[in-house]
Amino acid sequence: MTINDADTLDIVFENFLCNTSVFKDRNVLRHDYVPTKLPHREAQIRFLGMIIAPLLKAARCSNVFIYGKPGTGKTAVIKYVLKRLTEKASELGAAVQVGYVNCRLAGTQYRVLTRLCEILHTKIPFTGLAQGEVFDRFRNVLEKQEVLFVAVLDEIDEFVKNRGDDLLYELTRVNESLKNSKISLVGISNDLSFKNLLDPRVLSCLGEEEVVFRPYNASELQDILWGRADLAFHDNVLSKSAVSLCAALAAAEHGDARRALDLLRVAGEVTERAESQTITERHVRMAEERIEHDRTLQTLTNLTKHSKFVLYSVYLLGKAKVHSAITGDIYEVYAELCREIGAPSLTQRRVSGLINELDTMGLLNARLVSRGRYGRTKKISLAIPRTPVREVYSRDDHLCMLQHFTPTCLRAQGANRIRR
Ligand SMILES: Nc1ncnc2c1ncn2[C@@H]1O[C@H](COP(=O)(O)OP(=O)(O)O)[C@@H](O)[C@H]1O
Ligand SMILES: [Mg+2]
Repeated sequence: MTINDADTLDIVFENFLCNTSVFKDRNVLRHDYVPTKLPHREAQIRFLGMIIAPLLKAARCSNVFIYGKPGTGKTAVIKYVLKRLTEKASELGAAVQVGYVNCRLAGTQYRVLTRLCEILHTKIPFTGLAQGEVFDRFRNVLEKQEVLFVAVLDEIDEFVKNRGDDLLYELTRVNESLKNSKISLVGISNDLSFKNLLDPRVLSCLGEEEVVFRPYNASELQDILWGRADLAFHDNVLSKSAVSLCAALAAAEHGDARRALDLLRVAGEVTERAESQTITERHVRMAEERIEHDRTLQTLTNLTKHSKFVLYSVYLLGKAKVHSAITGDIYEVYAELCREIGAPSLTQRRVSGLINELDTMGLLNARLVSRGRYGRTKKISLAIPRTPVREVYSRDDHLCMLQHFTPTCLRAQGANRIRR
């Protein structure tokens, strides 16, 4: 490292540390920040408050099922309500305990139960116990503590889809064997159709009460953004038009407050990096592009091996100026690519299925075109820019070896044949 490098970094760090021109407190825009005010959720907060209020008078409260699209404030609202409940209960000396588990993150029934036990101050080994045993311990410790326990099971939809609803069934029945304690369940789902997956007995028990969180509209999202912006940014940094644009873009995408806040945060970062003083619409547009780019990278990285190969084949076709190919062309390139890597190839039928999947995911464009009396054929092209494909696959374990590879079918003559 030269002295110069050190100086450059010193300047960057110093600028970063001293730069107070845009953010006052960027943590306020993080996903896990729970705001003290939740505009446009007053009705849901009041309703939940009424449902849980009996706990303060030593009575069990009803189970609740909360649902709404992602980013509609379900997690923020329940955390806010539970915090207020805990404060009030300790003020009154009521024996109330609350526990929050994100089931998607916990991943398995075992870990959800372990989490619930931890909340009740009981440690369970990571592995080694039978699930029934863990459940018995949970029931025993709950009974011993003589409390009214509210267990919130967030993102329960993904969990039930992957793991079934046995645990929910057990939890809805646990009160039958408790004398000194009671449990109330709050299930939260991003997906309404999830109800169809539940055993009717579980559904009727969990859904004693239901609360719906509908998507926010653009004007509601603006209020949410302004509420946060005052804490996050210095005065006069944020332009009205930037907030309107963040809100409009997020409203178009199922009224997702998380999306709106992400746009605002990234727009702030873009502004800071550009050493500008005001967050404008242009910065929001740049933020949108960056988020979109990151999202594409994420999707490309997570594809399964053969989907990656298929997508890369379309990329190679594009590189040889074949901008809309038919399945047969793609298959030809794909098969050669598999041979080069030494991986067994799938059948053309399977590859055709993968193309359809990639089309549904918005990574490929497949449109049917008529060929007159020869019937119809599918023309396939990349639906995303080429840069993220190149970027991700130059880092991919298999595809990185193909950087200078041109399939024979795409060398001069072959490509002419395919281009037709
Ligand atoms: N009414 C609101 N007021 C302020 N912030 C909100 C509101 N609704 C949602 N948010 C914020 O938007 C983000 C997403 O909300 P979240 O509760 O996680 O949504 P969900 O759980 O429905 O997916 C969080 O950062 C949250 O704090
Ligand atoms: Mg949530």
